[in-house]
Amino acid sequence: MKAPALIALALPALIAGCASGPSAEEQAAMAADARKASGALIQKLGGELKAAVAASGPEGAIGVCKERAPQIAAEVSKQFGFDVKRVSPKNRNPAGVPDAWEAEAQAGLEKRMAAGEKPETLDTWQIVSTAEGKQFRYAKALPVQPLCLSCHGDPAAIPDAVKARLAVEYPHDKATGYAAGMVRGIVSVKRAL
Ligand code: HEC
Repeated sequence: MKAPALIALALPALIAGCASGPSAEEQAAMAADARKASGALIQKLGGELKAAVAASGPEGAIGVCKERAPQIAAEVSKQFGFDVKRVSPKNRNPAGVPDAWEAEAQAGLEKRMAAGEKPETLDTWQIVSTAEGKQFRYAKALPVQPLCLSCHGDPAAIPDAVKARLAVEYPHDKATGYAAGMVRGIVSVKRAL
């Protein structure tokens, strides 16, 4: 009669766990994992982007962003067991529209950056309650670097060939007019709990 005794012991702990959500340690571990996941996406995509720009110029690298960004996001999501993507209030990818939490998270990160925090390490996370249950949410700022400007900078400074390609691929593009140091968007990491 060992099994029922075990269940009797485990059940209250399970119920308590459900009611209160993850412990402080579990939350910190998830945040550390989310940091790793967003770092993996940024490193992989950034590396491929730089290589493509060097090999075939910014207009040739647009394809890398279009095809590889969603693929890499899907790979990282699978690897870390999160839902990982990039979003921006001025989105280029039609699927890149932020939800309410993401929009608020980016606005908060922009404020912290304006107050002097280093953009490279700027992130935030939270456990939120939704109609579908509790979720872990995480956002990491994507600051604009000089490399980004040929595709996201002032339209007057974007090469004509890039503008032409963007007009064909992204007729509803909002993602230009940025200057170095602005927050271009966030890596958004989500997990249902
Ligand atoms: C070669 C052109 C090019 C360069 C350089 C480039 N991007 Fe993009 N970016 C794109 C394209 C094309 C998309 C749309 C495809 C996608 O990622 O879904 C995009 C999408 C994004 C998105 C997703 C949200 C949205 O608007 O759809 C973010 C965030 C982003 N870029 C940030 C950056 C940052 C930060 C840099 C510099 C480190 C950068 N990009 C450099 C072309 C570029």
